[in-house]
Amino acid sequence: MPEARYAVFGHPIAHSLSPRIHAAFARQAGIALQYTAIDAPPEDFERILATFAADGGRGGNVTMPLKERAYALCSTLTARARSAGAVNTLTWRGEQWHGDNTDGAGLVRDLTGRQGLDLRGRRTLLLGAGGAARGVAAALLDAGILELAVVNRTPARADALVDALGQPDRAYSRYWDDLSNQGDFELIVNATSAARGTGAGTFNAPMTLVNSRTVAVDINYGEAAIPFLAWARAARCLHVVDGLGMLVEQAAEAFELWHGRRPDTRPVYEELRAQQVRLVTAD
Ligand code: ATR
Repeated sequence: MPEARYAVFGHPIAHSLSPRIHAAFARQAGIALQYTAIDAPPEDFERILATFAADGGRGGNVTMPLKERAYALCSTLTARARSAGAVNTLTWRGEQWHGDNTDGAGLVRDLTGRQGLDLRGRRTLLLGAGGAARGVAAALLDAGILELAVVNRTPARADALVDALGQPDRAYSRYWDDLSNQGDFELIVNATSAARGTGAGTFNAPMTLVNSRTVAVDINYGEAAIPFLAWARAARCLHVVDGLGMLVEQAAEAFELWHGRRPDTRPVYEELRAQQVRLVTAD
């Protein structure tokens, strides 16, 4: 029986922080853990995952652009993965992959726990309708936001996300071009991948989206979060949050699922935060 292995799959994946996060959690728990980063071009993902399972792979995290493919290949799914239509956590169970999605729980835990925010009653704008957006939409509704407006470059994807949520009284799609007619929001979440990879470009949206309480969250972190967060600061959002805390929290959810122990995320988050600040300001 080969040693149990865990990994994060993505494309590209070289800069993923997940191996460090899981290694730190494992040290806390006193568990010997093999957790690596595996590059998986989308067309090869299924084959790579099958080889991984044959070599002792027992759990995987999945990041862009593979979350919807991961969903499609799972034999069983949690309710939250099903409603997201996207999987970020795979567990090998009974010779099959079981899929979960811990992104939404991770985001809500970061916002309500670490950031100390009350999400209840907030008019919320979700930018993007890809796998990442699908992962967080239902959790935001469950956390008690007032309503969710979903805007996406490709409107049909926003419509599909909203249909899947099945709460037409609270969740609806709108057009990017019509953002200036949507009033203001107390929570704005950027779940697009527009700045990923490069961190380049500027983010543009009407400042009228912001009111005196607005929290702006980019579920990306590092350079990929810079354009949106720069806009949020310029628009005078009260609170501006990147996705680093969500990353650590979704990892903690996955770790608990696999190893039955809830890690203490605070020291891990603080160490990564200190390094991120150095990274981002070094340029
Ligand atoms: P992920 O799993 O990370 O969400 P994805 O499923 O490829 O990745 O989704 C990427 C999201 O970012 C989508 O909402 C995409 O919009 P489209 O559905 O129109 O493709 C959005 N996105 C990517 N590049 C963008 C850009 N330059 N401007 C606006 N939205 C962009």
